[in-house]
Amino acid sequence: MSKTILITGGAGFIGSHLIELMVRKYPDYRIVNADALTYAGNLENLSGIDKAENYSFEKVDIQDVAAVNALFDKYAFDGVIHLAAESHVDRSIESPTEFILTNVLGTVNLLNAARNSWGEGAEGKLFYHVSTDEVYGSLGDTGYFHEETPYDPRSPYSASKASSDHFVRAYYHTYKLPVVISNCSNNYGPYQFPEKLLPLMINNIKNQQSLPVYGDGQNVRDWLWVGDHCTAIDQIFHGGRVGETYNIGGHNERKNLEIVHALCDILDRKLDRPEGKNRELITFVTDRKGHDRRYAIDSSKLQGELGWKPTVSVEEGLEKTIDWYLANQEWMDRVTSGAYQGYYERMYSGRE
Ligand code: NAD
Ligand code: TYD
Repeated sequence: MSKTILITGGAGFIGSHLIELMVRKYPDYRIVNADALTYAGNLENLSGIDKAENYSFEKVDIQDVAAVNALFDKYAFDGVIHLAAESHVDRSIESPTEFILTNVLGTVNLLNAARNSWGEGAEGKLFYHVSTDEVYGSLGDTGYFHEETPYDPRSPYSASKASSDHFVRAYYHTYKLPVVISNCSNNYGPYQFPEKLLPLMINNIKNQQSLPVYGDGQNVRDWLWVGDHCTAIDQIFHGGRVGETYNIGGHNERKNLEIVHALCDILDRKLDRPEGKNRELITFVTDRKGHDRRYAIDSSKLQGELGWKPTVSVEEGLEKTIDWYLANQEWMDRVTSGAYQGYYERMYSGRE
């Protein structure tokens, strides 16, 4: 094996796509997936590659210093790609503390372990921190987030991610730990947990349940196909400049209501329902507290330096995503049973 790479959060949505890409594309890399398997982590997402010789899984909670240090003692990592996080804004509004423990403290535990393992200078090593555009706050009707946009996080989730980004940069400046950060817009695609907008709406449309659109539905997100995010991570990991930040986004801005309408209309067709039937399920519900109005990313630095480009349009991506969820009802059934149901009820009862 030419390199041993730690990927944290590899049984979650983006992490499982990234692990699959890295395990297949780099057979000479040992890929170690460390994940605590919270409600959002599902090893079933990795069934395509989990027997591969260059892949191994370690159940590790990054809040646990001893477990993180033992992991770094067991493997001599050449690189870390850190995705493990609490990732859902509504959960962060309900209980922020877990976000601080995993996203901030967990990240610092990994930084400390990398620093101890690599020593000063750490030639040839890289700590890659995967972050979000939400650290930049909320845009008005115009403009884009670029790498120099001042941080202005406005939810407990984005505040915890912003804090972790600051720690990563502080370790670069203070200890010369080789780091790189990327801040990406909203991802979508297969294996996304149905607490997020797209899989939640697809599942509810399929089951003819109401579609809870927050506020006026005019909030804007910049949607990126998860595979395009993973390609960007691969390119930044291999070609990004140490100490730099790269914004990743699809230039695919859509209002939430436009996305929900598109899902309804595609599913009218795919489920043989009369045209317009699914839109009748739309229910406007109480807005999310502190709901960020608009995110939009300027990814020209990444495109210019590394030649990355998104390859999947929203129209194509929505079709692919819907087809995957329709073909994988068993995955959805397992995910929506048990713990998730309790969460769903807490979040939505009394809202309509
Ligand atoms: P996810 O919630 O689907 O997966 C998170 C994974 O982290 C899960 O497998 C979970 O088990 C694991 N995890 C949580 N707490 C842990 C802990 N204490 N120790 C070890 N593992 C733990 O999240 P995702 O959507 O795949 O996001 C992955 C990363 O990408 C996150 O850092 C997120 O902030 C970032 N990001 C996500 C998006 C998006 O649209 N989903 C956009 C930009 C950036
Ligand atoms: P989400 O998928 O939670 O991602 P984020 O909050 O990180 O952008 O939500 C995307 C948008 O959809 C956001 O503006 C909130 C909105 N939304 C709804 O209107 N209804 C819902 O049930 C959910 C989960 C989200």
